[in-house]
Amino acid sequence: MDFRKKLIAGNWKMNGTGEMLDEVRELLDAHPKPKYDILICPPATLLAAMSSLTAERSILTGGQDCHHEQAGAHTGDISGQMLADAGASFVILGHSERRADHGETDDNVNVKARAAIAAGLKVVICVGETLAEREAANTLEIIAGQLAGSVPDLATGANLVVAYEPVWAIGTGKVATLEQIGEVHDFIRMQLEKRLGAGVGRSTRLLYGGSVKAGNAAEIFGVSNVDGALVGGASLKAADFSPIINALDAAS
Ligand code: 13P
Repeated sequence: MDFRKKLIAGNWKMNGTGEMLDEVRELLDAHPKPKYDILICPPATLLAAMSSLTAERSILTGGQDCHHEQAGAHTGDISGQMLADAGASFVILGHSERRADHGETDDNVNVKARAAIAAGLKVVICVGETLAEREAANTLEIIAGQLAGSVPDLATGANLVVAYEPVWAIGTGKVATLEQIGEVHDFIRMQLEKRLGAGVGRSTRLLYGGSVKAGNAAEIFGVSNVDGALVGGASLKAADFSPIINALDAAS
C-alpha cells in the first residue's frame, strides 16, 4: 500500500504565539528530507508567518477550519481562499471540537469541504464516536453517517484525507486499542471504496488521532489502513513531535 504517501499532521488547536515558530525551525532542521508529508496546522494568526518559514522546505501548513464561502460579510470567519493565500495547502474540517463547540453538522462540513477544495486546498475531514456511542456499540454506524454526510462527492485521493479521532481519546491520554483502530480504519476504507470507487477509496489517506505520543506512535502506524496520525498536544513541541515523525520511518 505504499502508493499512499504517509502523512503526519500536527493540530496546534488554539495554542501558539510567535515564539513557537522556533519549534518549527527545530523540526525543519531535524527533518530536512522526509519520505512522507509533514503538516502543521497552527492557529490562523500564525499561518502566514509559519508558511513563509516552511515554504520550499519539508513542512506543509494548514488551517483548522474555513468558511463555506470564499469572501463576504462574515465577521471573524476565514475562507479557504484566504488560507491558501496565507500559504496553506491543507485544512482540517469537522474536528470534534468544532462539532461540539460550534454545533457543526455533517452538512456544514460537506459544504466547507467543497469550498476548500475549490480554493485548491486538501481537506482533512475528522470523524469519531463519543464514549457513549462506543459503549452503545454504535461506533461503525456513527462513522458511516459522518462519512456519508461530511465527505463531498467530488473527493479524490488527491484532495481528501480522513482522520479517525475517537472523541473519548482526544486529550485524555486514553488511546484506542490497536484492534479498535484497525476495525474502524478498515471500515472507513471500505465505505470510501463503496461510495467513491476503488481508486479513490484505496488512495485516500486515513489518519488516527487521539493521544498519539512518541511511546505509542510506532505500534499505531503498524495497524492496517493507518497512513499516519493527527496529533494534538504532542505536536506543540519539536522534542515531542520529532520522535513521532521518526516512528513513521519504522512503519514505511
Ligand atoms: P491529542 O493528540 O491532544 O489527543 O489531540 C488529538 C486531536 O484532536 C488532533 O486533532
